[in-house]
Amino acid sequence: MQRMRALRKTSPDKAEIQQVPVPEPAADQVLLQVSAAALCGTDLHIYRWNAWARGAGIQLPRIMGHECCGEVVAVGENVFGLAIGDKVAVETHLPCGQCLQCRIGEQHICNNLKLFSIHTDGCFAEYTTVPEICARKIPQEISSRVGAIMEPLGTALRSVLESKVAGATVLVTGCGPIGLFAVASASTLGASRILASDVSAPRLEIAGRMGAHRILDPGREDPVEAVLAETGGYGADVVIEASGSITAIQQAFRCLRKGGRVALVGLPSMPLELEIGKAVVFKEAKIIGIHGRTMFDTWTRMENLLVSGKLDVLPAITHVLPLDRWQEGFDLALSGTACKVVFEP
Ligand SMILES: NC(=O)c1ccc[n+]([C@@H]2O[C@H](COP(=O)([O-])OP(=O)(O)OC[C@H]3O[C@@H](n4cnc5c(N)ncnc54)[C@H](O)[C@@H]3O)[C@@H](O)[C@H]2O)c1
Ligand SMILES: [Zn+2]
Ligand SMILES: [Zn+2]
Repeated sequence: MQRMRALRKTSPDKAEIQQVPVPEPAADQVLLQVSAAALCGTDLHIYRWNAWARGAGIQLPRIMGHECCGEVVAVGENVFGLAIGDKVAVETHLPCGQCLQCRIGEQHICNNLKLFSIHTDGCFAEYTTVPEICARKIPQEISSRVGAIMEPLGTALRSVLESKVAGATVLVTGCGPIGLFAVASASTLGASRILASDVSAPRLEIAGRMGAHRILDPGREDPVEAVLAETGGYGADVVIEASGSITAIQQAFRCLRKGGRVALVGLPSMPLELEIGKAVVFKEAKIIGIHGRTMFDTWTRMENLLVSGKLDVLPAITHVLPLDRWQEGFDLALSGTACKVVFEP
């Protein structure tokens, strides 16, 4: 049996590279040779085995990593839409295909949703298997590094698409990978003015390079006052919340103009208080919850924008490392020094 190197979470306090068998694709799966895989906040939660990870239903040992690009090297007997040699990016929401949502075109929020690398082995390895439906064929001109970040990029792009930003003033709160991808997407989709907030100076600097006209650090200035001052006292037309910070979420509604749209992408670790009358009802705020990408309208638009050269996300990739240096990548991400770290097996 052929073997491969894989980064496995083996116990609550340990992750390590191990030699494991190359997986066999099931009838509806493809086997990918991984060309690039990106590190995400979720991987850090699993690595630290925090409360979220403990409650996520992950069975150890588990191969980590879910954001990836690879080449199809084998197909299951029921796979007809992909062939050996195809380049693919992975959609990580694994739908059941049978429930109400799956049948009405909302399979990305399937009622029995499974997640790649949470409920299955992931892609920090030389090879990985994914169901055909989640292996999105991409053109060769999209690089493997960009292919590996299409999953988080798609989430950000969708939040911007659904918020209708053309000609609008957009505030993006949080400039991690998701927020930075939202800044770039808002710029591409015609936002007239983009304000971006973060408490990290290096991330704000990248936001400026990716299209933000005004960066603001809530540690140095009151973000609500700053946004009101920038918008003639009205507030932003659109807020994309990509920090998950409870304070930032509460402030997002105060930064929003009456009748504006808020896309909530960030995931707070605890319930939070919101004065619904003031924040939502009297303001007529339109709240848009975003969980991943639509399958496959978001993917199609994202691919078109990347191929046309209109969407450039490379500044968000701050580090590319061989998988053997995974510890360094995790440490960089945990220290907040890195933005998007990509591993090449
Ligand atoms: N809805 C989805 O489908 C989906 C998918 C992926 C990630 N997420 C969530 O989106 C959020 C962003 O993801 P990420 O990978 O970019 O995470 P990240 O942790 O790298 O980025 C969050 C950023 O917010 C900044 N921040 C913290 N407090 C802030 C404040 N008060 N104001 C402004 N910025 C502040 C941090 O400095 C950091 O740069 C996370 O909460 C993540 O869990 C949601
Ligand atoms: Zn992710
Ligand atoms: Zn379903």
